[in-house]
Amino acid sequence: MGFAYTDLSVDRDDLRDDVLTGLAASPKSIPPKYFYDEAGCRLFEAICAQPEYVLCRTEQSLMAAHLPDIAAALGPVDCIIEPGAGDCVKVRRLLDTLHPANLVVMDIAGAPLAAAAEPLSRDYPALAVTALGMDFIHDLEAATPYLPAGRRLVYYPGSSIGNFAPDEASALLARFRQLASAQGQLLIGFDLKKDPQRLHAAYNDAAGVTAAFNLNLLARLNRELGADFDLTRFRHYAFYNPVAGRIEMHLVSLAEQDIHIAGQRVHFALGETLHTEHSYKFRGDEFSALAQIAGWTLKAAWEHDGFAVQLYG
Ligand SMILES: C[S@@+](CC[C@H](N)C(=O)[O-])C[C@H]1O[C@@H](n2cnc3c(N)ncnc32)[C@H](O)[C@@H]1O
Repeated sequence: MGFAYTDLSVDRDDLRDDVLTGLAASPKSIPPKYFYDEAGCRLFEAICAQPEYVLCRTEQSLMAAHLPDIAAALGPVDCIIEPGAGDCVKVRRLLDTLHPANLVVMDIAGAPLAAAAEPLSRDYPALAVTALGMDFIHDLEAATPYLPAGRRLVYYPGSSIGNFAPDEASALLARFRQLASAQGQLLIGFDLKKDPQRLHAAYNDAAGVTAAFNLNLLARLNRELGADFDLTRFRHYAFYNPVAGRIEMHLVSLAEQDIHIAGQRVHFALGETLHTEHSYKFRGDEFSALAQIAGWTLKAAWEHDGFAVQLYG
């Protein structure tokens, strides 16, 4: 049925403005959505293949084992919508089973998304594939004109919801509720609270791929904003904070130093941190409370080896 790609990223200087705002804050921080330039997308795929980062493989096993139950609980679906679809691998399993007429995928990394989504229209000739290059945090609603009528399923796997603080997660889930419309459903995968040593290991892989992913953010700022970060003077530092229930990912300055970026000078004290990501972990009941606040009703839930998939209507 074909493939269409539309770039909905408004021509604004978001990266520059957000980064300068984040570097002026205390503590310094940069939103995790900026990890995903082309190199960042490739590094994220490599993280998923690391032995310590079992999250992706566990979710795939869960989906494979429970797919008949999930399909039965879902009923007919006309359109699957996947925000932050990345390499578009996970949705294939749903396409094989649910046979929707339409797939709408969105990602802030527009070019890699288009490259990943286009083959889907060849592999599923009856499927209409729409790829939208967009920042859904900024303007999820811009996708509405591209959504066909019928029963919609918002699919949000990979524990991407964990990158949002609980109040932000609830607000995003409420926007998904609007996007799905009255008969719509939400199938969402998230990482469960578990042994902190296992969580710690997942974000500190021995091959250093997560470290390279984190440091690539600075390389991106050097490439795109003409910054002069010396990557050897910052250390990837990730740990599980059990009080907050989240992995915290930082880049810690190994020296007192000044960096220059977009015509400004930014000072780092020795040991000062640039915070780059939170990855919240939930109990099943904690998560369903957040989804309920957002207007969703839990229909079914599956858990496997520390990972959960929940279905909402
Ligand atoms: C952790 S990856 C998950 C990819 C895929 N859904 C999976 O489960 O394997 C997060 C994806 O969301 C995208 N993303 C992050 N923030 C975004 C935003 N604000 N708007 C659109 N896409 C975003 C990233 O580019 C990346 O492809």
